[in-house]
Amino acid sequence: MMIDQEVKRRRTFAIISHPDAGKTTLTEKLLMFAGAIHIAGSVKARKASRYATSDWMEIEKQRGISVASSVMQMEYRDHVINLLDTPGHQDFSEDTYRVLTAVDAALMVIDAANGVEAQTLRLLEVCRARNTPILTFINKMDREVRNPLDLIDEIERTLGMATIPFTWPIGMGKQFHGVFDLQHHCVRVFHPGADRVENENEMVINKLENKALIERFGENFIEARQEMDLVRGVSPEFDHTAFLAGKQTPVFFGSAINNFGVREILDALIELAPPPKSRQSIQREVPPVEPKFSGVVFKIQANMNPAHRDRIAFVRICSGEFKRGMNLKIVRSGKEVRTNTVVSFLSQRRELLEVAYAGDIIGIPNHGTLQLGDTLTEGETLHFTGLPFFAPEIFQTVEIADPMRSKQLKLGLTQLGEEGAIQVFRPHIGSSLLLGAVGNLQFEVVTHRLQHEYGVDARIAAAKYQLARWITANDPQELQRFIDSNAHRIAYDAVDAPTFLASFAAEISVAKENWPAISFHKMREHA
Ligand code: G4P
Repeated sequence: MMIDQEVKRRRTFAIISHPDAGKTTLTEKLLMFAGAIHIAGSVKARKASRYATSDWMEIEKQRGISVASSVMQMEYRDHVINLLDTPGHQDFSEDTYRVLTAVDAALMVIDAANGVEAQTLRLLEVCRARNTPILTFINKMDREVRNPLDLIDEIERTLGMATIPFTWPIGMGKQFHGVFDLQHHCVRVFHPGADRVENENEMVINKLENKALIERFGENFIEARQEMDLVRGVSPEFDHTAFLAGKQTPVFFGSAINNFGVREILDALIELAPPPKSRQSIQREVPPVEPKFSGVVFKIQANMNPAHRDRIAFVRICSGEFKRGMNLKIVRSGKEVRTNTVVSFLSQRRELLEVAYAGDIIGIPNHGTLQLGDTLTEGETLHFTGLPFFAPEIFQTVEIADPMRSKQLKLGLTQLGEEGAIQVFRPHIGSSLLLGAVGNLQFEVVTHRLQHEYGVDARIAAAKYQLARWITANDPQELQRFIDSNAHRIAYDAVDAPTFLASFAAEISVAKENWPAISFHKMREHA
């Protein structure tokens, strides 16, 4: 097949939701409906052990299999679907932001009892900033939930996006009878009972005016029709361009655990979600169908096996074709990467990969040569933009019980920093490293991992500074003057980008006033 055909049949998306909305369940059902049952099993296994321990301990335990389940590839209706998982806990939202830069669409799962929740909102802001098209799945209709009109209204209000119902529920909870399929003008009848196999659960009734429907579903049917007429009266027609621009979201109602509404989502992904698009680099726009390979590292997972200090860099292919064994250049360092051992995520095992195309995610094992935000090419100098690092909101310093272990501490922190688990800053003056995080849980994970992977007993203590801003200037000499004049407040991040540290926001304002030629940034976008 030609590259453009391969690209056209790819769909790369992430599922986002507030914890417990049903992301794991839906993921598993999507895999099941696409026939990737063996992977579905691993998602379930991952979930089964989830409640045994606290959140982050579990994250730790699961790292072994999470490489397999954080990117899942499946084939459906002659399309290749890449599904990227996102961490649920908000303290890891930085990871999620980066995953969202690697997808072309997002599937938002909402618990019909809870509506739009905090975590979903935050993630959606990122999607909106990038105009990522969003499909909405309103889950758990088999429970007593909120009125669907209310839910639709809330999504519109909080997300600032027009909702276009593609299905409409008939009843809810024990009275949930199914949905109207507004696209295909039929009723899909719901049969409760988990773990049914596909097709068993959907009976399709084609004539909406059918008196038998009223007899069968009674009040619920009449009410649903009224609601539907109301919604259709006020909402615009579905406009594919508006959806692609992130201005409209098609909405589906269902019950993931009962396999209900899952096929509609898969179909919508194929029919509505976009194939890979051109990507912006500093140098030029890069179309996905270009024959030459280019890609960007959006996630790093380290120490899958602590004995080997191995890492896997997750690369989103931006253009061209990947062939195992090809030589790739890391643009930042000019170094070459071997790709003989590149893995795909086709199954629970890490499988060696032969070919892949724009839109696919490949995993490159390495020992630290690859960093977050790195661009890989066949030789061309390109820097893809858009991989965000956010200024930390909490700073801590590290102390170790045994000074003899300080080398290991440094190694551990550097590696965890490169992985994006935490941000590590090296002060301009002095030697004790500063740790910066967006959420407190990140510190817990880091101390735990330092102990288990690097044998370092580290204690975290409050740092003097609480804010950081990346600094840049058009004139490098001016930047140097700023750094020299503020030496005690300057620190460098994992890629040696300078930051200005402050204890109070007012100090940043003062610095801005005194140094008009210096720009202060809350976010850094590329290496
Ligand atoms: P998450 O990944 O978004 O955190 O959610 P997950 O799929 O783990 O689902 C959270 C809970 O919601 C689970 O129940 C799951 O079974 C339930 N759930 C998912 N989809 C539906 C649905 O369509 N209807 C109903 N009624 N429940 C649903 P749990 O009790 O936390 O776990 P479990 O004991 O069922 O495994």
